Amino acid sequence: MTANPIPAAADSVRFGIIGVGIIGRQHAQRLTGENSPATLVAVADAHPEAAHEVATEYGIEAAATVTDLLARQDIDAVVIAVPSGLHADVTIEALTAGKHIYLEKPIEITVEAADRIRAAEQASGKLLTVASQRRFAAENQYLKQLVTEGRLGTITSATVEVPLWRSQEYYDSGAWRGTWKLDGGGALMNQGVHLVDLTLWLLGDVEELYAHTGLLAHERIEVEDTVTVTARLRSGAQLTFQATTAAFGDLPIRMNLMGDAGSIVTERERVVHFFSRDDLELPAFGPVDIMLTQMTDFVRAIRTGGDPLVSSAEARAAVAFIEAVYESGRTGKPVRPAKLPASV
Ligand SMILES: NC(=O)c1ccc[n+]([C@@H]2O[C@H](COP(=O)([O-])OP(=O)(O)OC[C@H]3O[C@@H](n4cnc5c(N)ncnc54)[C@H](O)[C@@H]3O)[C@@H](O)[C@H]2O)c1
Repeated sequence: MTANPIPAAADSVRFGIIGVGIIGRQHAQRLTGENSPATLVAVADAHPEAAHEVATEYGIEAAATVTDLLARQDIDAVVIAVPSGLHADVTIEALTAGKHIYLEKPIEITVEAADRIRAAEQASGKLLTVASQRRFAAENQYLKQLVTEGRLGTITSATVEVPLWRSQEYYDSGAWRGTWKLDGGGALMNQGVHLVDLTLWLLGDVEELYAHTGLLAHERIEVEDTVTVTARLRSGAQLTFQATTAAFGDLPIRMNLMGDAGSIVTERERVVHFFSRDDLELPAFGPVDIMLTQMTDFVRAIRTGGDPLVSSAEARAAVAFIEAVYESGRTGKPVRPAKLPASV
């Protein structure tokens, strides 16, 4: 417990961050920035020197251990930004300590671990959301509105491309990167999961999928760097989904939604084609700090007792899709993603 706890202000949600690597530092910057919706109190990391460095940079405290940070009564919520295969251990400890959770993506690297997180979430009565910041881009909010209101008619098919480049140095930069145990997968589990979530959010559940997976252009990693999926959605629509970290260059992430009353194509979240049978006009889209907007949505949920936009059930569905892709890639057979059991 800190000697001088930061008092609970009526309008302030007080955060800690666990794990201050690449993305944890971005959260620290936003939570201490002028548009922060909350207050950052302290950070912790398995490497205490990393926590001290970030604490000094942002004028906050460094807890000696994760357990010390979680014992603080002046912290209401934590961002968890540790390697993906450690999410369940740290999240369950934090929920048990009574904290709300902003968990980095993916929720975990298996459906089994995601279900353990969800059971702890329900037992704790605390709020939990999982990072999926692309949902908060103004264009993607508009896509959701178009689909929900039926403005594209019957969605017949969709194609999603995630053609990224990650150098060998990227994979060599952390011992956990590219391992089954801690990264849980490659181009799909680590990078593509954002677009898996976006696709399922827009189009609904997948009934069955078939996939090819391969490690085609990297060394010293265990996981796939290239994956191609075809799927049939519960709605009847057909999906092709391609993700790779072996596409040299800077190709855009691209999503095509095709319906019998309209079709829309986005590249890097920007709308590049839009055809509407009813002559709908595109609204003007302003720039959005999507990480900050998701954090603001979570803080709103904590303050109002409402639901954050991204639920743990949805984050689990993304991992169920990815697990099914890996199983199909291994077995060469079509696979149905695991459904949500009634109990969790
Ligand atoms: N939302 C996004 O766009 C986005 C982007 C990058 C990473 N991520 C996710 O964030 C997580 C972290 O990724 P990263 O790239 O920042 O990794 P990183 O390796 O840069 O940072 C991880 C940090 O966690 C610390 N750590 C490891 N085990 C710990 C433990 N048990 N307790 C406390 N600290 C611990 C490490 O010392 C390190 O500082 C991953 O799950 C990743 O998928 C999300």
